[in-house]
Amino acid sequence: MSIKIVALLGSLRTESYTKKLLLYTQQLIQQNHKDVVLEIYDNIGLLPFVNEDLESDYYQNNKDVIRFKDTLRSAHGILFATPEYNFSVPGVLKNAIDIATRPYNDNVLVGKPFGIISSSPGVTGGIRSQMAIRNTMFAFGGFTTGYPEFILGGAYQAFTPEGTLKNEQSTQALNTYINNYTSLVRKNLQPVSKENTATDVEKKSKENKDQTN
Ligand code: FNR
Repeated sequence: MSIKIVALLGSLRTESYTKKLLLYTQQLIQQNHKDVVLEIYDNIGLLPFVNEDLESDYYQNNKDVIRFKDTLRSAHGILFATPEYNFSVPGVLKNAIDIATRPYNDNVLVGKPFGIISSSPGVTGGIRSQMAIRNTMFAFGGFTTGYPEFILGGAYQAFTPEGTLKNEQSTQALNTYINNYTSLVRKNLQPVSKENTATDVEKKSKENKDQTN
């Protein structure tokens, strides 16, 4: 059975160091965990801001929202890869988490083990962002691995031009984190939905357009 982990990236920057870290993580998973696929969901910047006045509309009609929730629904685990903004989680990622948890009876994160990796140019490696995500995920019974966390400090100097980590100890620490997290996911496998409601919405909006033309 193939295990699917969906990764959400907390930086929209093209040259993001956290993205480099996530791509390297994907490579290590491919090498060492043949039964696991890490899919990077790269479009959280397209999601609307949470607004309870509008949610009955965007959960029904917004393709980006529906595609995002379908993707999470099909995952056995969720991996957050994040920088730290002002000692906390970047707003774009917090908004994506909030979108995923609504409406109340359709929180697509519930029951899925989550993991977090973070990076920062400083020595703290984004750990406060990790704590903010944990706190948020605990709002609905989220669970994750304990010690050791994986943080990458000194991110601006950390990568080779090929995108691997220069420091062997950092790679070992990342592999340890991946091993712990994937085994948590394996132990908590639940049936996942493969529903693709985004195509239905696309079809519906095309039909509506055709009717008005
Ligand atoms: C930052 N940065 C930052 N770094 C950190 O270690 N702790 C912090 O609290 C903050 N705060 C912060 C706020 C805002 C609004 C920005 C834009 C940046 C610096 C940040 O770590 C740096 O820009 C990273 O390079 C961002 O990650 P990516 O985009 O390279 O993945």
